[in-house]
Amino acid sequence: MDAIDALMSRRSYARGNLIQPAPNKEQIEIILQAAMTVPDHGNLKPWRFILVQDQGIEDLSILVKQKYAESLSKENLDSFVKEISETPMMLFVCSDLTLEHNVTVLDQQLAGAAACEHILLAAHALGFAGIWHSSEADDDLRHLLNLKKEDGVLGVLSIGTPKRTSLAKRRSFADFTQTWDRDNGLKTWSDI
Ligand SMILES: Cc1cc2nc3c(=O)[nH]c(=O)nc-3n(C[C@H](O)[C@H](O)[C@H](O)COP(=O)(O)O)c2cc1C
Repeated sequence: MDAIDALMSRRSYARGNLIQPAPNKEQIEIILQAAMTVPDHGNLKPWRFILVQDQGIEDLSILVKQKYAESLSKENLDSFVKEISETPMMLFVCSDLTLEHNVTVLDQQLAGAAACEHILLAAHALGFAGIWHSSEADDDLRHLLNLKKEDGVLGVLSIGTPKRTSLAKRRSFADFTQTWDRDNGLKTWSDI
């Protein structure tokens, strides 16, 4: 798949639509190396990738079950635990910030977000699919992932093989794009 095809056809698939196989070790290495190529102000590489698969997915399902036992109804808890336990592979992309640096925290977090997107795109280009979920890094998760207090989870990326593929309908860039010059000011794309 060429790069433009990959960009145009990537879409998210809910965890329930992701089945085995997950990427193998060699494919995971390609996906993660692709994440290392993102624009990165100051070349700080302000991220950490934590791969969860096989036994890790089982362990995570047990933790999720314990954690949400009180707060979720039995039905919602069962379906959430099933969803996690059947996810072929997960990547926690965490920030690894350098504070008091001339590169702002925002720039460092944006580089980490770009790494998340490269992961999803590379997985897609290799024939896999995925979805990006956010996650509150509460104390339990922070402890498990050994996060510094300033860091967080930028994305929980679930990746596997899509049950079936389909294209998403996309809005036109033209609705989001203006041109600017001093004489004309801002003009919408369709007016030029
Ligand atoms: C930072 C970030 C966090 C997200 N968190 C969630 C989430 O927690 N739950 C969710 O359903 N979608 C979440 N999404 C959105 C999906 O990953 C997905 O992009 C969205 O449903 C649109 O689908 P598409 O990627 O096919 O356009 C998040 C996206 C981003 C960029």
